[in-house]
Amino acid sequence: MSQVYLNGAFMAPQDAHISPLDRGFLFADGIYEVIPAYNGVLFRFDEHLIRLERSLAETAIDNPYRREEWRKLCEELVARNGGGNLSVYLQVTRGVAAKRDHAFPNPPVQPTVFMMTGSIAVPAADSPDTASGSRAITLDDIRWARCDIKSVSLLPNSLLRQQAVEAGASEAILLRDGFVTEGSASNVFIVKNGTVLTPPKSHAILGGITRDLVVELCLRHHIPLEEREITESQLRQADEIWVTSSTKEIVPVIQLNNSPVGDGVPGPLWKTVARHYVTFKRRLCGHQDQE
Ligand code: PDD
Repeated sequence: MSQVYLNGAFMAPQDAHISPLDRGFLFADGIYEVIPAYNGVLFRFDEHLIRLERSLAETAIDNPYRREEWRKLCEELVARNGGGNLSVYLQVTRGVAAKRDHAFPNPPVQPTVFMMTGSIAVPAADSPDTASGSRAITLDDIRWARCDIKSVSLLPNSLLRQQAVEAGASEAILLRDGFVTEGSASNVFIVKNGTVLTPPKSHAILGGITRDLVVELCLRHHIPLEEREITESQLRQADEIWVTSSTKEIVPVIQLNNSPVGDGVPGPLWKTVARHYVTFKRRLCGHQDQE
């Protein structure tokens, strides 16, 4: 039986109740994180917590726990859900106000903390030689101007992802003013003539933890990488396209808007970086059993 965490207690999901006056429900006034665990070991936990702290600071929501308390809660949640390969979803909202008012409750109320685990599908990077790759479409980035905050306000992302799914793709790659920002729930990399490119961090994209690790691994292994703007035509002419996220790691995109990307198969640089990623992951978390 799975267990979730709500405001200080672990419980069965059906016992977790949140007030409809919670500002997360009324205003999407909250932030979240998704942290993978492999073999029950949290992966890049500090990096996720630094981003959580930043999202809370940027939205002026009180951080209810210190970093070590967060770690203990996440570890206990993973253990209570059987360990292994899981993602930890955690959400903090501004809390339950007495009445609906756009301005923050004054005096402030206790933030609501909710955590649950989800399953992680076997990532493509685990088997670079047999990975089949995925399809993406391009769409206009219709989101707000602070996509660097990991806000629970995901209606635009959800509408965009649904459009991709209805077009037979698994991700929407977003364009703002002719430049690639990111995916609906991922960061974007392209490869051109042996160089890896990814948009620089800004308010227009979420600073992905997987993105940062891919950048770090490329630098460490002397793979040419530049953090710079990618135009729509560079995207369309890319030799390789990858999308990255904590739950899917690095996914090769082999078809964009129904046209093949490069040779239409996962590319050689993706295979190299995927291998480095898996080696790094196994060093930190040990070997994962396939699910
Ligand atoms: N999403 N950009 C957006 C808009 C995202 O939602 C995500 C992740 C990323 C990748 O970030 P990271 O590598 O830190 O996971 C980029 C998570 C997984 C989600 O919403 O479920």
